[in-house]
Amino acid sequence: RLLVLEGHGQQAGASAGAGTAAKVHILYGSQTGNAEGLAQSAAAVARSQGLAPVVQALGEVDLEVFATMRHVLIVTSTYGEGEMPDNAQLFWDAISASTAPRLEQMHFAVLAIGDTGYDGFCQAGKVIDMRLEQLGAKRLAERVDCDVEYEEAASAWIASAMPRLASSAGSSGSAPADIAAAPPAKPAIPGSSRKNPFSAALVANRRLSGEASAKDIRHFEFDLEGSGLHYEAGDALGVIPVNDPELVGLLLARLNVAYDTPVPGHDQSLGDLLTHQFEISEPSRKLVDFIGGHTANEELRHILQHDDKDTLAAWLWGKDVLDLLLLDPARPIGVQELVAQLRPLQHRAYSISSSQKAYPRHVHLTVAAVRYQSGGRARGGVCSTYLADRVGRGEKPAIFISPNKSFRVPQNGDAPLIMVGPGTGIAPFRAFLQERAATGAKGRNWLLFGDQHRVHDYIYEDELAQWHQGGHLSRLDLAFSRDQAEKIYVQTRMREHGAELYAWLQEGGHFYVCGDATRMAKDVDEALHQLIAEHGGTSEEKAADYVNQLKKEKRYLRDVY
Ligand code: 2AM
Repeated sequence: RLLVLEGHGQQAGASAGAGTAAKVHILYGSQTGNAEGLAQSAAAVARSQGLAPVVQALGEVDLEVFATMRHVLIVTSTYGEGEMPDNAQLFWDAISASTAPRLEQMHFAVLAIGDTGYDGFCQAGKVIDMRLEQLGAKRLAERVDCDVEYEEAASAWIASAMPRLASSAGSSGSAPADIAAAPPAKPAIPGSSRKNPFSAALVANRRLSGEASAKDIRHFEFDLEGSGLHYEAGDALGVIPVNDPELVGLLLARLNVAYDTPVPGHDQSLGDLLTHQFEISEPSRKLVDFIGGHTANEELRHILQHDDKDTLAAWLWGKDVLDLLLLDPARPIGVQELVAQLRPLQHRAYSISSSQKAYPRHVHLTVAAVRYQSGGRARGGVCSTYLADRVGRGEKPAIFISPNKSFRVPQNGDAPLIMVGPGTGIAPFRAFLQERAATGAKGRNWLLFGDQHRVHDYIYEDELAQWHQGGHLSRLDLAFSRDQAEKIYVQTRMREHGAELYAWLQEGGHFYVCGDATRMAKDVDEALHQLIAEHGGTSEEKAADYVNQLKKEKRYLRDVY
């Protein structure tokens, strides 16, 4: 991650070049801080070009003000299946409305980051880019859509787009020759970025959920001793996994080659590449198309011919790279040819479940180890099973802190906190509660937690009960969905205590949600709207305005996946 720290929305000071620095706006839509980090990097490059950048979240910009901007660079990620990041939603609502003003005087460029693993890759960036053009703004540089490993592509794009922004802004700053020197400095400490991870001993690996639980939820602790690493409650921990050697073995057997087979163009052997460098669980779209191009499997050929994404996703569910290679078990495949179809191995980011103020030397994670049976083989989540099953004693996984600057406890220690975190969604809230206990924050804390069964799935029960008894948790509401005939979910509890929840919001409360994005977070959002309408005695539209205002004030924050 390219991080250049800088306050929000602040105007840059003196510029590097001679003459008056021209103002440019660098606006970001960011869910976890990656796009925000890129916006800050772009601002550093802008300053080196003699520009005066103003960095702001898209959601903080009013449409009337936006319409007066002349030189705009937008960096945005996409959230979930093609949605706007939370802090860009209000902006999108405004510019996509039919009443949006014309933007003829604006020059702009869009940098999009996303994940090709999702439908709607870079969708937020794409639609913003298109809409600005529709409204008459002039595009200074073609948009680039970056995948999860965005750093290089994004830096290159910033370096090439900035001179155009500078010349359109009429900057009298430095010449483009300086650009090569402009990319931000690499962070020095191991563990502060994906490129430069820290090897941390895994010193605890404990099952939290009961033996009879449907889920294997684990508590992990890493030792940060000697790293100098610092994290804040709300940050995530990036973990670089190692693939399952059994699966690697099966792949090598299918290819009929040895572990140490060399691969032209790579320094490592095929076995090492499959173990450490490439995704072998979830097949890339490239591999699917490659296999589909010659397979005898009628079903896959049919699905690809009809280009039906949903059917393809359903067909791919539970299938890994080996399954695809076994569609045509006897067909020879070159090792170089195969490697060329694979995606680089991604890190996994987990919300940290501890506060460093309580555990100065350690970082805790709360992770569900994903396991299932498919096609006669036991399968599992790449990184969760790596941590749960395959990290031996004394082994040190590669980790790094992945800051989530938009997900923090309120600076005001007196502000009431409402935290909705069922299942592993509890992780950042355990950190928040530790943080608030360590700093002596006086504000009331309310946790809504749940899962399937109280006897198996009430994780961290002792800690939560203690906090509740001691009064650190003013309210603890539990929702166990399968302990009775009807489903009880966290949003059921929100509705039951709607009047009190609304009162907490009225008293300056901050509302947080962590966990499942597809169902839970949507339903919690709906329940929030409804209880505001009901207890605020107001219309649906006014309730939506109220929620938007909470978002604007950063009092409605989500860490959902
Ligand atoms: P269920 O599987 O019994 O329906 C953690 O997975 C918990 O989230 C489980 O108790 C699960 O309940 C529950 N859950 C499932 N769908 C949900 C939804 N739409 N909103 C909130 N919780 C949900």
